[in-house]
Amino acid sequence: MRRLSRFLILLTISLVSAQSIPEYGQCGGIGYTGPTSCAAGNACVVLNSYFSQCLPGASTNSSASATSTTSSGSTTTTTTSTSPTSTVSGFVKTDGMHFTLNNEPFTVVGANAYWVGLMNYGITDMYTGFADIAATGATAVRTLGFNEVTTPDGVAYYQSWSGSTPTVNYGANGLENFDNVISAAKAHGLRLIVTLSDYGGMDVYVNQLLGQGSPHDYFYTNATVIAFVTRYLNEPGILAWELANEPRCLGSTSATSGTCTVSTISIWAAELSAFIKSIDPNHLVAIGDEGFFNDPGNPIYVYQGSLGVDFNANLNISTLDFGTFHESWGESDSPGSFGTQYIEDHATAMKVSNKPVIMEEFGVTISSQSDTYSTWYSSVLSAGLTGDLIWQAGSDLINSPTPNDGYAVYPGSDVYVLDTQHAAALKLRDGST
Ligand SMILES: *[C@@H]1O[C@H](CO)[C@@H](O)[C@H](O)[C@H]1NC(C)=O
Ligand SMILES: *[C@@H]1O[C@H](CO)[C@@H](O)[C@H](O)[C@H]1NC(C)=O
Ligand SMILES: *[C@@H]1O[C@H](CO)[C@@H](O)[C@H](O)[C@H]1NC(C)=O
Repeated sequence: MRRLSRFLILLTISLVSAQSIPEYGQCGGIGYTGPTSCAAGNACVVLNSYFSQCLPGASTNSSASATSTTSSGSTTTTTTSTSPTSTVSGFVKTDGMHFTLNNEPFTVVGANAYWVGLMNYGITDMYTGFADIAATGATAVRTLGFNEVTTPDGVAYYQSWSGSTPTVNYGANGLENFDNVISAAKAHGLRLIVTLSDYGGMDVYVNQLLGQGSPHDYFYTNATVIAFVTRYLNEPGILAWELANEPRCLGSTSATSGTCTVSTISIWAAELSAFIKSIDPNHLVAIGDEGFFNDPGNPIYVYQGSLGVDFNANLNISTLDFGTFHESWGESDSPGSFGTQYIEDHATAMKVSNKPVIMEEFGVTISSQSDTYSTWYSSVLSAGLTGDLIWQAGSDLINSPTPNDGYAVYPGSDVYVLDTQHAAALKLRDGST
């Protein structure tokens, strides 16, 4: 698999130009022996002693961040998107099973809002959305830092594909839009957990590069990953990067190769997280997975390892700072006893690994929704789980409400009130403010 992905990276490069390195390609660094001249319009910029990269001059320098090389060879990035009213400063770190900020306890609690960076919302709507989330006492919002398209259709997107050539979108409906998302979050004291790719995105890569229906697990690439990470290196509004939303051996529109196992995803996660850490020592990194266990023979399928994820093995990876799991297995489970078991088992893994673990998506649409969430919130507290993010936030914007997939929590609803009480309880437990 590694050999094949290298081959594909080289193939992509050779399609662009036989001689020069394309945008975002590596052009230098310790141990690097390849070519050093970048394609027209790009300059080779030192990101750290291990990695220099071809970056497009105009778009990198004219928008949110400017990258310059210091005398020591390291990199400084200055963002200009900081809101004057922002109270967000410092990077969130970990200390054992807890998060910290400026050496004080920091509670990760909040909501998912995939829509905020994807719908071409104006800054006013972004402010409303984040204000509604912040009013619950949330500290964190998980959102998407990707949208792979083959035909741009008006919504915000971050990379488009023409045949096998990807182009990162730096424009007003691309990364400039994401600059606004970060400003709006920070203006409300919120930090973002940004998921850098997904199932769907991985499928676009596979289908574009290998042909429709090619095996899902054969290829991953990281041009948009690099674009995001380098743009926001010094941005305190980013809490963490996540490698992908819900990676599994099977993709949604492409087949599995039949050779994907739990170690395929562990190796991928270790490589990609180490790479991100080498570019960006400031931000935490996690996978963004559903937290499946690898216990072959267990009667419950999310514990069997067959989905390609080994939660405990992945927590052992030194370049992953915290564990993530998703709780959507409670639909027939009122009031959430299976979910309680899933929470407790992840809390046990948290204690063994001595790293934070968050339930970063959970939701049911059954009529006993509030009862189920009450049960799960009690379980989070009694098990000592580090934190949680509900799926998903809802907000009444100027023209229409945000999308409702049946899980959205709008201000004033029972669950919104429950979320507010829960955030306060977690902060009290942690001694954070
Ligand atoms: C961006 O601007 C800085 C300072 O003007 C310059 O040193 C650097 O080479 C530029 N970066 C790129 C990628 O052109
Ligand atoms: C990410 O991209 C860089 C630069 O092209 C490359 O050196 C690195 O191997 C890639 N990492 C992964 C995990 O694909
Ligand atoms: C994680 O690391 C610990 C300590 O090295 C080891 O005992 C354990 O077997 C590892 N777990 C997995 C699932 O790899």
